[in-house]
Amino acid sequence: MTKSNLFKWLGISGSVLAFACALALPGRAMTKEEAHQKAEVLLKKMTLDEKIGQLNQSSGIQMPMLGNEKPDGLIEQGRVGSILWLTNVQEINRLQHLAVEKSRLHIPILFAFDVIHGYRTVFPVPLAMASSWDPNVEREAQHYAAEDARAAGIRWTFTPMVDIARDARWGRIVEGAGEDPYLGSAMARAQVEGFQGSEIGPDSVVACVKHFAGYGAAEGGRDYDSSYMPEELMQNVYLRPFHAAEQAGAGTFMSAYMDLNDVPASGNHWLLTDVLRKDWGFKGFVVSDAFAVKNLETHGYAKDSSDAAYKAIMSGLDMDMASQTYTNNLAALVKAGKVPESTIDNAVLPILAIKYELGLFEHPYVDESKVEATLNRPEGLVLERKIAGKSMVLLKNENETLPLKANLKKVAVIGPLANSTHDIEGGWTVEGLFGNGSKSHPATVLAGLKNRLGPDADITFVPGPEIGRVYPGLLDQMSGRKPPAPPTEAEIAETLAKVKAAAANADVVVAVMGETSNMSSEAASRAMLNLPGIQEQMLKTALASGKPVVLVLENGRPLDLHWEAKHIPAILEAWYPGTEGGNAVADVLFGQVNPGGKLPVSFPRSSGQEPLHYNHNLTHEPETSPTFNSRYEDVLSTPLYPFGYGLSYTTFKFSNLKLSRSSMKVGETSEVSVDVTNTGSVGGDEVAQVYIHQRYGSASRPVRELKGFKRITLAPGETKTLTFPLGTSELEFWSPQTKKWAVEPSTFDVWAGGDSTASLHTELQVTE
Ligand code: NOJ
Repeated sequence: MTKSNLFKWLGISGSVLAFACALALPGRAMTKEEAHQKAEVLLKKMTLDEKIGQLNQSSGIQMPMLGNEKPDGLIEQGRVGSILWLTNVQEINRLQHLAVEKSRLHIPILFAFDVIHGYRTVFPVPLAMASSWDPNVEREAQHYAAEDARAAGIRWTFTPMVDIARDARWGRIVEGAGEDPYLGSAMARAQVEGFQGSEIGPDSVVACVKHFAGYGAAEGGRDYDSSYMPEELMQNVYLRPFHAAEQAGAGTFMSAYMDLNDVPASGNHWLLTDVLRKDWGFKGFVVSDAFAVKNLETHGYAKDSSDAAYKAIMSGLDMDMASQTYTNNLAALVKAGKVPESTIDNAVLPILAIKYELGLFEHPYVDESKVEATLNRPEGLVLERKIAGKSMVLLKNENETLPLKANLKKVAVIGPLANSTHDIEGGWTVEGLFGNGSKSHPATVLAGLKNRLGPDADITFVPGPEIGRVYPGLLDQMSGRKPPAPPTEAEIAETLAKVKAAAANADVVVAVMGETSNMSSEAASRAMLNLPGIQEQMLKTALASGKPVVLVLENGRPLDLHWEAKHIPAILEAWYPGTEGGNAVADVLFGQVNPGGKLPVSFPRSSGQEPLHYNHNLTHEPETSPTFNSRYEDVLSTPLYPFGYGLSYTTFKFSNLKLSRSSMKVGETSEVSVDVTNTGSVGGDEVAQVYIHQRYGSASRPVRELKGFKRITLAPGETKTLTFPLGTSELEFWSPQTKKWAVEPSTFDVWAGGDSTASLHTELQVTE
């Protein structure tokens, strides 16, 4: 509870209680102004080396490229502001004691980690949580994760990742909210609020919005490759979720690795100063991505490490993650008069202020006796299972193959992911990250089915050959995860024979397939988006048995499912659903939970369509043109499953689309209303979506843009009327001709429905 909320709750004036509270609540929230004043007082006492120390984030673990010693010596000299990649609470406390007791000014260390989708309790991966189309899901999950992280000494998380990703080949698509700036902004805000609360205080974990900016547009979907993008695309699409997170009060930003229009993002003055500070008024601090300051040399942008430090600090990058480039060079640059000391001061101040706001000076240590009890709170698993259920997307359900009957007795479970505890939680798991081993005991889909069907059920399991990435990344090397050996002909034949026998004996085949969790995320791009290995052969064999086949997907990106979509009767996109993932899949397969998630990304018909996104512009020969009606010779240019798409065990109807006014002036707002009815026989969730298109103006605008959504629950036969505003923030865009944000007079198409192909339509006139 913040101080002002506490006073409100007590119903007593703040001034009367201020003194008493300062004594009674040592961890009380400090206002931003108080924190800033304290930071200024402290700054005046600091030597140049101590200031530069605050800009240094040291690694808490040994890494091959660092060959580093323990940071003890530097900490005692007051030359470490933050430490990352450390989760051992005894070590966190030991290092904090060094900082607080041995360093001259007793400034505590800010410990940071990638708490991306949970700590001990692992929630669905971010792309999955975005599929819930429910910002409360993100808020609740990240609030819970923040409580865990804080108890374990982590007060700063490198979350949310808000990069727009239009290219499924890019592995990091799994870490964000998908392709759309409007949905992405809502999820970005919710995550900041989940971690920080309404403002940064003693209960917060500070959010870090990353990767600023344009990282998701890497050429060819190859991670770390350059992005080239005109300012209009940057402003209208890629920067929007960043701005939303900034407006929600995010304390920190992380600069991206890649070149943006030939200037590396980590030394990019336009991004870090002109946009972030000048245009948006950001008051927090910017950390580089890991080693990104040093990497300015690798890019061929900085001459040497001193030049890298110079270019980064002068562009507005405050803290150097892991590379020690600031530690080694900034003092000399200041002494030589190249970097003004005021630039260093401006970088240090927000770091100190955030430490004050967090109450770190009063409470620097972890209470080791409480860590395990917090991390193992049973309510976390209940929340995780609920959120996992809300995040799944039913892609296909022919002949009501799903839900499965509760009294089902004979099931064949096939696929390499069906019992993989490594994969069900996805990548970026705090405790699994450096090969420490997850302590969360996740439920796989096989386990979930067994839990559901009980000991008498006849379940045959055929995993088939292991799948996995061919070139192991650094994290794989550290955790000992090896590339699988390709199966021999004999192993393939044996697997297919087992699938055939298991399917013949079963009432239903549940295939759990997709990609291993390390096939998406950082440095995990794929050119082909098909199911890897012999998974498709296993599916064909199962299908040949004539038994119903249900495909449950675990994956971190849109896949090329053109064969599966044609032949498999039921497909459930489970993504990586987290610790209770297997139980949540069983909830959905057996109808205890009616799936209501929707795709936050378009699924292609072929990898060759990538990058693919629904909000593209019209061409001079639109898709429907009778003369030139396809933009590929060999595949339609529409997606296999469109953005916003997802089925339910019930059906919904949209009707009665109305505008509170069909004509208005620039600056006014019209309310869209639409009725949504559950026309089926079971209760379920629908996500109502509103799209617009501006027909003419100072620039061509996308065929459709999402401008409103709401996830609602409807009983059979129930109708709800939903309203959405269409005003300045929905209708404005940044025009490449006027170089500014404005609503332009035009005719706007407005659609409402259950996905981005919605046909219910009306028109809005906007006049001068
Ligand atoms: C590199 C990744 O790009 C970034 O997302 C992450 O936060 C940092 N490493 C720290 O682990």
